[in-house]
Amino acid sequence: MFVRIASQSELPPAGEAKEFSQGDQVICVANVNGTIAAMDNVCLHMGGPLGQGLVERNKVVCPWHGWQWDPKTGKAGHSSEVSVAVYPIKIENGDVLVDI
Ligand code: FES
Repeated sequence: MFVRIASQSELPPAGEAKEFSQGDQVICVANVNGTIAAMDNVCLHMGGPLGQGLVERNKVVCPWHGWQWDPKTGKAGHSSEVSVAVYPIKIENGDVLVDI
């Protein structure tokens, strides 16, 4: 079920990521060259906050130790066998909706 996490104006600009809370869950929303994607905010290395990282070469870089995550697939840059959850995201009437 899609739930509203933010208004469109709150989305991060291209090349950046941002954290949004939904209930007790935190979502990382990334803007990859204008494409918005959503994934779990918790880095699988040591729990770093992915939404506080930057986007480099289409990947969100964890601010703690630099592990890279593809926000469209959730896969880690160093291994396609490691991945965080990704969530469908859409914008409707100025609202950002995520299917968590
Ligand atoms: S916690 Fe993300 S790279 Fe270490």
